[in-house]
Amino acid sequence: MKIMVIGAGQMGGGIAQVMAANNHVTYLNDISMELIHKRVDFIGAILQKNVDKGKISPDQRMETLSRILPTISLDDAADCDLIIEAIVENMEAKASIFSKLDLICKPSCIFASNTSSLPLTEIAACTNRPDRVIGMHFMNPVPVMKLVEIIRGLATSDETYEVIKQLAKDIAKVPVEVRDVPGFVSNRVLQLMINEAIYCLYEGVATPQGIDTVMKLGMNNPMGPLELADFIGLDTVLAIMETLYHGYGDCKYRPCPLLRQYVKAGWYGKKSGRGFYQY
Ligand code: NAI
Repeated sequence: MKIMVIGAGQMGGGIAQVMAANNHVTYLNDISMELIHKRVDFIGAILQKNVDKGKISPDQRMETLSRILPTISLDDAADCDLIIEAIVENMEAKASIFSKLDLICKPSCIFASNTSSLPLTEIAACTNRPDRVIGMHFMNPVPVMKLVEIIRGLATSDETYEVIKQLAKDIAKVPVEVRDVPGFVSNRVLQLMINEAIYCLYEGVATPQGIDTVMKLGMNNPMGPLELADFIGLDTVLAIMETLYHGYGDCKYRPCPLLRQYVKAGWYGKKSGRGFYQY
């Protein structure tokens, strides 16, 4: 399968790595070559660690890297069989990309979005191929995490669903079908916990380290919720909370004011060097 991954951020990079490692020629697209090359270097470093640990051979590393083709032109999507979009969690941005791709891509090309929370039905409606639009929600870090939530929009065809479900299995992931509701299952549950942890910090209940230690040692979570929020990106966490809040119209999803303030300050977590912790 020839694939284009759009967005060379932490998710797009991980998705491109996994697809290329599984023999798929994969274009990696972003708004600048510099961003894409930075991501490809990062993937190269991760693969080198796997070589050092004896998990893959140096040849496998080189072959995987050679299948990742950097491009800033959407026109390269013309001969692709699958698009996986992983740009910012913003409906307008995603709609704009998909309506452009709809004119470029062949009719049989499937459009998958890695959105964390946005309605697939609305994304599909921006195209003339709503039957070939689907959610393929990977977890972070993509090469490590087994789950892929598969979200069908109102018009997604059975054929599209079967292709994506099989692809997820072929790359050794575990697909779970979920309905097209805000936040799906993963973020409907997870983000409420993260938001509540931010409220604890906001109200001075405990320090960030204290909150995370409670959840790690008390609940056996591998990461504390604030550490995890920093890892996801606080801009993404806020975007997901807004989708949940507006989507369900329920005040239990109200984003904590401290989260809004951090995002306004440019404190996006690990990717910007500062969030609840300093990096
Ligand atoms: P990120 O901030 O690391 O990367 C986003 C990338 O998209 C950036 O490199 C940016 O330059 C690029 N971009 C923005 N507009 C673009 C455009 N018009 N064309 C091409 N590239 C464009 O974000 P991240 O964390 O990789 O998230 C991406 C998507 O994946 C979002 O929809 C997010 O909700 C979802 N997601 C995020 C997870 C996480 O843990 N961070 C987990 C699962 C899904």
